[in-house]
Amino acid sequence: MEVVQDSAQLVNWFRSSAPYINAHRHKTFVLMLGGEALETDNFQHIINDIALLNSLGVKLVLVHGVRPQIQKQLDQHGHKSAFKNDIRITDEKSLVLIKQAVGAVQIELQARLSMGLANSPMQGASIRTVVSNVVTAQPIGIKDGVDYCHAGKVRRIDVEGLKIHLDMGAIPVISPLGYSVTGEVFNLLAEEVATQVAIGLQADKLIGFCSKTGVLDESGKLISELLPEQAQQHVDVMAKRDQEASGTLRFLRAAIAACKAGVTRSHLISYYQEGALLKELFTRDGSGTQIVKESSERIRTATIDDIGGLLELIEPLEKQGVLVKRSRELLENEIHHFQIVELDGMVIGCAALYPFKDEKMGELACLVSHPKYRSSGRADNLVLHVERKARELGLDAIFVLTTQSIHWFRERGFNFADISDLPSARKELYNLKRNSKVLLRKIR
Ligand SMILES: CC(C)(COP(=O)(O)OP(=O)(O)OC[C@H]1O[C@@H](n2cnc3c(N)ncnc32)[C@H](O)[C@@H]1OP(=O)(O)O)[C@@H](O)C(=O)NCCC(=O)NCCS
Repeated sequence: MEVVQDSAQLVNWFRSSAPYINAHRHKTFVLMLGGEALETDNFQHIINDIALLNSLGVKLVLVHGVRPQIQKQLDQHGHKSAFKNDIRITDEKSLVLIKQAVGAVQIELQARLSMGLANSPMQGASIRTVVSNVVTAQPIGIKDGVDYCHAGKVRRIDVEGLKIHLDMGAIPVISPLGYSVTGEVFNLLAEEVATQVAIGLQADKLIGFCSKTGVLDESGKLISELLPEQAQQHVDVMAKRDQEASGTLRFLRAAIAACKAGVTRSHLISYYQEGALLKELFTRDGSGTQIVKESSERIRTATIDDIGGLLELIEPLEKQGVLVKRSRELLENEIHHFQIVELDGMVIGCAALYPFKDEKMGELACLVSHPKYRSSGRADNLVLHVERKARELGLDAIFVLTTQSIHWFRERGFNFADISDLPSARKELYNLKRNSKVLLRKIR
């Protein structure tokens, strides 16, 4: 019985992942894997998941850090190096040891990505990796009288070279060492390398790993989405608290810079949590924090000030009989049930959620997309948003009564249901004359 349940769950999970698999195919993701991640028990799982993404046709670039490994190497040789503004001042001796640490990490990564043991997730993966000189560096030089020696910054990325490797289906593995035109080696910030690679490639995503599940609020709760300005506030607070060495801080800075330069979505996930990468990419709720570029369009709960805009949107459809008539008074009373899509101050979409808490069901009603803005996935986004709200309210299913958009809902996984399936309060209000179809979708 258990096995049947498990396999049913697997089939459901696999099917629900299909839209994400299609969406991610041929997309370019830059993964920023800090050296700390390599030291965890979960590291092999991360490698397995990277291999899986590669098999699903995602173009991946792996930028890795080496901080703890470098520190270990320096400690073992009794060599100390100072930090200034979270940058290691890299003298000759440090550089020799850093090269050793980077070499060891690169070899370890390549070895792991080359695995193909039978009965393991890597069986048949056959991944090609490429280590190359795509990062050109220059010295930081002397700042405030401090000579950073071999600590450097990114001068340019050989984007064409990277694209050739990606088009071959290979995973470029990039270390935080860059080479100058004069033939010298420079120690760089891995986050800066990842950011510049993502910007150069105009990657679809920059993904980083940290010790928490993502960015947490003051009460320790995961924040699932941040706009760059909100991310900046977290950076400012962390910097004030002297948390410069935090990987989260460094990644947030990287994500903000990437976002400003056209990489519209970055993700910060845990390197401890098994499957965090897959959960983030293949489930609706994700596992970590997304940093997304602000658009002037947003979905939000309607307020009394939106009634004019809402009426403009729904009245033509009421006149056509597509929607049931709602008076201004009714809208005023029910306004808190409405979610709207606002674009440049205009209401261009709406949907209402009426919860029936006893039955753990919610009615999705009055889903409208402005005729000028249709067929752009906005209604889909609204339904997803309403679903999220419904889950927050502890509901298990949403239903809709429709006369003209039956197929729209059917295509989105709503199934025919009966009037008797409706919550009793809603059953009583069912208008037999309208003869609407009842469609229902489980949301858990
Ligand atoms: C249903 C509705 C919200 C969809 O809005 P939208 O922004 O076009 O939706 P999306 O962009 O997410 O989806 C577009 C797809 O749905 C299809 N579609 C749009 N309206 C449809 C309908 N009534 N029936 C079936 N399919 C429909 C489009 O042809 C398009 O398909 P395509 O991608 O193959 O070209 C919009 O048509 C609408 O406002 N209808 C009037 C109000 C209504 O009937 N609401 C539902 C009852 S509450």
